Amino acid sequence: MTDPKTPSLSEPLPGDPSREEQIARMLRVDHAGEYGAVRIYEGQLAVLGRTPAGDVIRKMAAQEKKHLERFDRLLPQHRVRPTLLGPVWHAAGFALGAASALLGERAAMACTVAVEEVIDEHYAAQAQALGNEEPALRSTIEEFRQDELAHRDEGLARGAEQAAGYEVLTAGIKAASRLAIWLSTRI
Ligand SMILES: [Fe+2]
Ligand SMILES: [Fe+2]
Repeated sequence: MTDPKTPSLSEPLPGDPSREEQIARMLRVDHAGEYGAVRIYEGQLAVLGRTPAGDVIRKMAAQEKKHLERFDRLLPQHRVRPTLLGPVWHAAGFALGAASALLGERAAMACTVAVEEVIDEHYAAQAQALGNEEPALRSTIEEFRQDELAHRDEGLARGAEQAAGYEVLTAGIKAASRLAIWLSTRI
């Protein structure tokens, strides 16, 4: 199913942004998302770094850093400026990670599940919008999407669903993540 908010590159509709602008938006929001992910895991590590969950979170954080580094290279290559909201995601990502971790390891894992599910949907919609265009970017997105799904699975395996208030917590974090995506695509 095509996400109505994600215009297809191969079948543009009147009023759709140009192909170049669409690629720029994708790179900008993906860069912002990976930056936010790094900060969330750094926030979680500030609280849980020395607990048994620390190694799992460190592994996920290291992968997010690799994702971020890839977009750090891609943006200048495509002459795309990063989102202006970087300082916001710097603070908000860390705060979300630390706050979820302060509620306990399971809540931290619930945060991971919520964020990664939203990123999964987001990357899937982008891959579909790209179709056969920009194969290198598409394969990057597909590769990262698999990593994000592995993070979600790790969160589920470590008891995310047993976190107190799991439904409310994940619904709130998903809403916030979708808003962050919406903003980072545009600003
Ligand atoms: Fe990532
Ligand atoms: Fe991730």
